[in-house]
Order: sequence, then C-alpha cells, then structure tokens
Amino acid sequence: MKNILITGGAGFIGSHVVRLFVTKYPDYHIVNLDKLTYAGNLANLKDIENAPNYTFVKADICDFEKVQEIFAKYRIDGVIHLAAESHVDRSIKEPFTFARTNVMGTLTLLQAAKQYWNGNWEGKRFYHISTDEVYGALELTHPDGIEPPFSTTASSSEHHLAYGKDFFYEDTKYNPHSPYSASKASSDHFVRAFHDTYGMPTIVTNCSNNYGPYQFPEKLIPLFINNIRHGKPLPVYGKGENVRDWLYVVDHARAIDLIFHKGKIADTYNIGGFNEWKNIDLIKVIIKTVDRLLGNPEGTSDHLITYVTDRAGHDLRYAIDSTKLKNELGWEPSLQFEEGIEKTVRWYLDNQEWMDNITSGEYEKYYESMYSGR
Ligand code: NAD
Ligand code: TYD
Repeated sequence: MKNILITGGAGFIGSHVVRLFVTKYPDYHIVNLDKLTYAGNLANLKDIENAPNYTFVKADICDFEKVQEIFAKYRIDGVIHLAAESHVDRSIKEPFTFARTNVMGTLTLLQAAKQYWNGNWEGKRFYHISTDEVYGALELTHPDGIEPPFSTTASSSEHHLAYGKDFFYEDTKYNPHSPYSASKASSDHFVRAFHDTYGMPTIVTNCSNNYGPYQFPEKLIPLFINNIRHGKPLPVYGKGENVRDWLYVVDHARAIDLIFHKGKIADTYNIGGFNEWKNIDLIKVIIKTVDRLLGNPEGTSDHLITYVTDRAGHDLRYAIDSTKLKNELGWEPSLQFEEGIEKTVRWYLDNQEWMDNITSGEYEKYYESMYSGR
C-alpha cells in the first residue's frame, strides 16, 4: 500500500495520525481529506505541511463525486477514516449533522472505495476509527464494594479493577445512548456490512477517550486547562462522578499504525489505556498541574470548580479492555498518565496562540450559546 487516504486529518487525532504516517513512511503518499469544519485546523499540521509525500484536499466526505475523484486522482489503496462530528454535547443539540457526516459520510466513502477498487481487494484496506461509546455505559461499582483507589498509572492491573468489574470487550453488544454514539455505531455497522456483503477488506477499532495536544477546547481536558488559565469557571456536569478511560493521543496513533499494517481483516480491536478516572478526580489533577506550571500556590484555582446541570443521557462509565490488542499485536500504552497529563498541560500553556486563534470569533459565540444557562 502506497497511497493512503486519511480523512479528518486536520482534526485532533487525525493530525497525529497524519504526522506519524508522513514522517515514518517517506515512500507513502498521504492524502489528507478534510472539510475543515469548526474542529478542523490546518495549524495542527504546520510542521509537515510542506513534506513531499503529503497532500491536503479540502472536501466533504458526503460529496460522492469529489470523493470518487480523489480515489482516482491519487490512486488510493488504503483508507484510514477519522472524519466525523465528534462532540457528544453538540450531538444532543444537532443530531442531524451527526447522522449526515458520521453515517452518510462513511457510507459515501465506502461506496467510492468499492467502486474504485472494483472487486480487486488485493493490497487494499478500509480502516474505520470508532469509539468505545458505541458499547453504552458500564456500572460504577467496585467488585468488592470498596472505594476505588486513586488512579495511579496506566496499565496497572490494580487500577484495571478500580471502578467496576465490567469492561468493554470486542464482543460487547452495541448499546449506544447519545446521538453521537448512535451515529458512530451505525457507521461501524456499515463498514462491517461492506466486508460481509462485498468482501471489502475492512477493520474497525473502538478507542477510549483521547487526550493530548491539538484537541479542540470543547472537550473536557483542553477546555478546563484554558479556563483555569483565564480564571473562568470549570463546568462539572452533575456530580463529577462519571468515569472515563483516558489514552494519550500519540499512543492511539501508534495503535492505528500497527493495526493498519498488521491487523486482521474484518476484525475489531479495542484500544484503551487501562486508565480510568472519575471526572472530578481528573479535574483536581488538572487544576493542580496547571497551577504548579503557572507558578501559582497550590489551591489557587480550586474555587473555579462549578457544578452544573448534568449532560442529558450522560453515560456513567466507559472502560476498555485492550488485552486482545496487547496479546495479538503487542501494543501497550507507552506513557504513564502522570507523564501524559504533564506533557499535555505544558503543551497548551506553551501554545496559547493556537488556543487563542481557536477560541476567538465564531467558536466563542457557539460556546456561549452551548453553556449559557447550564
Ligand atoms: P475532531 O472533531 O477533532 O476532528 C474531526 C475532523 O473531521 C475535523 O478535522 C473536521 O474538519 C473533519 N470533518 C468533520 N466533518 C467532515 C466532513 N463531512 N467531511 C470531511 N471532514 C470532516 O475529532 P477527533 O477527536 O480527532 O476524532 C477523530 C475520530 O476518532 C472520530 O471518528 C471519532 O469518532 C473517533 N474517536 C475519537 C475519540 C476522542 O477521544 N476524541 C475517541 C475514540 C474515537
Ligand atoms: P468529553 O471530553 O466531552 O468526552 P466524552 O463525552 O466523549 O466522554 O467529556 C468527558 C467527560 O467530562 C464526560 O463525562 C463529560 C464531562 N464534562 C464535564 O463535566 N464538563 C464539561 O464541560 C465537558 C466538556 C465534559
């Protein structure tokens, strides 16, 4: 495979995947197809934008003719599909956009790939990036009813059992609750259907919450880092009891590289960090880290915590079991959480201009309309 189409490459995870592929595989041609919605930002790729093996194409994955043209023009033999509407809160407000991009956009890409490859599947691959949110929500109970230990390190087996005995496995039944996860579940089914019906070589992976540089500041971690810096309130939904399993984005990109090259066709892999955190505990770590790096005395920003109305249908706990990926392909997260969060906070504080460019203008207005009244 030499000509790889990466969709959504100007977004958070996509930009890390594009960077990894462009720098690691000089003999591949990487074509980044992105519509540049509010979440797409070419500033995320400044360091590689002039690489000889990289091309950016501004296009909508729902535009069938344009996508067909891209397949033919660049003789695409592999697809890594990340383009999506990705924020749960927005999906609650505007579900149609999510169905359009995530479901119809994925189907459009599948149909264009099928037509262009025309049954010649040799050396071809359609790799769809999905989320653990398709599995629904898990209970929040320690198996022995013991209060969970404070989160410590990624992949610690003790921590694996911190918040409950259930995990999402590859064969866990789909049970999405939000319009976002429903649209992603639907797209996953379409991808598998194209394998089962036409024989297309597909792979699906479902990953837990990512964090790291270049994440759009509507998601918990960059939003809170930025708010602390500006002394703004930190809107904690409900009681802050919800649990998420956090993975450093570069580790996700490493997994995508490995699975794209070595993963079994028609298979599914779960990707996660064995790194569960209750939101409120994570928020306290973020506050402490930002205050320390800004040179503020400990506790300076604690008062910014503001409990607000819970998110509608808020999933209680996500927790991925990624043992299959470890056993079959040898992947493990490379970063301890402490290291990852330190790097992340430092990156946002050092890249204030990146943040300011995003949070000025239209986004700011949208943000106000989303959060006023909560
Ligand atoms: P993001 O919102 O940061 O980026 C999405 C990108 O897709 C943007 O660059 C946007 O411009 C582009 N895009 C949106 N609609 C498009 C369209 N119609 N045509 C072309 N491009 C379009 O999202 P992200 O967090 O980087 O997520 C990337 C993928 O990974 C998504 O499929 C998401 O469901 C999945 N995922 C995300 C996480 C996470 O924690 N962020 C976890 C697991 C899976
Ligand atoms: P988010 O980053 O939106 O990811 P997801 O909803 O896909 O898990 O949210 C992570 C967790 O943080 C989730 O439980 C919702 C919560 N949250 C808040 O409490 N306040 C906020 O302002 C945001 C954006 C999220």
